[in-house]
Amino acid sequence: MSSEALSTTPSFAVDAAREGSVTVAPMAGAARRVFIENFGCQMNDYDVERMVEVLRRNGFERTDEAEGADLIVINTCSIREKAEHKAASAAGRYKPLKDKNPALVVAIGGCVAQQEGDALLRKIPVADLTFGPDQIPRLAEHVRRINDPGSTAAATGSAPVSPRSTAIPNRYRLRLAKTEVTDVEDYAFLTADPRPGDVSVTALVTIQKGCDNYCAYCVVPNTRGCEVSRPAEEVRVEVERFIALGAREITLIGQNVNAYHAIGTPDGDDFAELLRRINDVPGLMRLRYTTSHPHYFSRKVADAFRDCDKLCPWLHLPVQAGSSSVLSRMAREYTREQYLEKIEYLRQVCPDISLSTDIIVGYPGETEQDFAQTLSLLETVRYDSIYSFAYSRRPGTPAIDLPDDVLADEKSRRLSTVLALQKTITAERLGRMVGRIEPILIEGFARMGTAQLCGRTAGNHTVNIRCEGHEPAALQSLIGQLVPVRITESKIHTLVGLLAS
Ligand code: SAH
Ligand code: SF4
Ligand code: F3S
Repeated sequence: MSSEALSTTPSFAVDAAREGSVTVAPMAGAARRVFIENFGCQMNDYDVERMVEVLRRNGFERTDEAEGADLIVINTCSIREKAEHKAASAAGRYKPLKDKNPALVVAIGGCVAQQEGDALLRKIPVADLTFGPDQIPRLAEHVRRINDPGSTAAATGSAPVSPRSTAIPNRYRLRLAKTEVTDVEDYAFLTADPRPGDVSVTALVTIQKGCDNYCAYCVVPNTRGCEVSRPAEEVRVEVERFIALGAREITLIGQNVNAYHAIGTPDGDDFAELLRRINDVPGLMRLRYTTSHPHYFSRKVADAFRDCDKLCPWLHLPVQAGSSSVLSRMAREYTREQYLEKIEYLRQVCPDISLSTDIIVGYPGETEQDFAQTLSLLETVRYDSIYSFAYSRRPGTPAIDLPDDVLADEKSRRLSTVLALQKTITAERLGRMVGRIEPILIEGFARMGTAQLCGRTAGNHTVNIRCEGHEPAALQSLIGQLVPVRITESKIHTLVGLLAS
């Protein structure tokens, strides 16, 4: 549902009318500035890049400073409660800027915007626009309408706005909630259009949108809609474009990449086939993907770790819980035993693979015994890293009807227990790297200055590399290269290394 509202809140519109400046200058002329604050997952990271490109074609440049921006976009995530509050408080922080500059447009995008639409406009008075992910191609058009309610939507040639808004532009502020979802048959993926200087060593390429899974706790199927797989040729062309502009590592992204189905291989194992096709792109050094759903993680997909030389030995395979009865109530479609079997097979085809996972603690009905099974699964699998979350009830999810019966204090206790256990496992997993000489893809200089480079192992561990005695120019030339590095030390989450040559 999408709606338009002419707010009767006179706020800045009245002052602006006094100044005679309610209509903002058209897009031509000096570039206008967009500031983007982003939350959430890799899909949101990807969307931000596409927003920047859409806006750039309409006269905007990205800025790192909210102060002085003409447009502020808060790209929200609705996966857990806290993320949503973060978005609301971010919007509040921009109110003083809006008070100073009534022409500033504050837009809220992403998953909270998609789910809440005009309700969010009511909750957040400073917002002018809420828009869902499918509206990104039309973002510039929506902003233009808010800036100039009397204009036609020249950006897309669509119909003029309603006479109601053109009749009273000075007294009323046009606010838009744009949450229409594109039908699956009509969905077209936005083609990435990066400028050469904006491409880094690692790049994300989307291979699907949405999710058809309906895990009982998860809002994603509501916020991102049905799963649509991107044509393989389009994926390949986009990978080639990033490589031509300097990227060396590509991560294929989607909420459940194993459900990818745009090729139609005779045996239906499309994602494995896509990996093989992308693995062959000239110039590609490393290939990764995320996120995988265990139910769809077939042996053929596992075999790709053995057969595709660019595919890095790293897999994020969210398990969520170690108890089969919790998994069943989560509608995850696999048991503990089936998950462990998949891990066992993976370690046969790729013995040194690094694994990571997501864990939810305190799911409705999770007993102490269930929780103990999560701990024992962590001990058995021995992940290199995990992300763990306390369950939070989300609107519109099947689990909303289940009693949220694990108390907040108990959820925190379980979370701390998980983290404490994982700390020792991560230490052991990172420790195994010490003493090895590993090929590291150099991504840039480490944060502490130009004396250190940073990059990642094939297993996705971050390495800060000491480079004393090397000229900065020589170090600069290593960015984008695979360089042998001796791993000398492991820290809590990262490794330290020395250039080996
Ligand atoms: N598509 C991915 C995960 C997407 S959401 C998958 O299928 O695994 C990222 C993670 O957030 C999930 O893996 C889950 O661990 C966590 N999460 C999702 N909904 C949650 C909720 N309602 N409460 C707590 N954690 C949640
Ligand atoms: Fe959410 Fe499940 Fe889809 Fe992942 S697979 S996005 S957890 S519904
Ligand atoms: Fe969050 Fe939406 Fe991603 S809810 S996790 S930003 S798909």
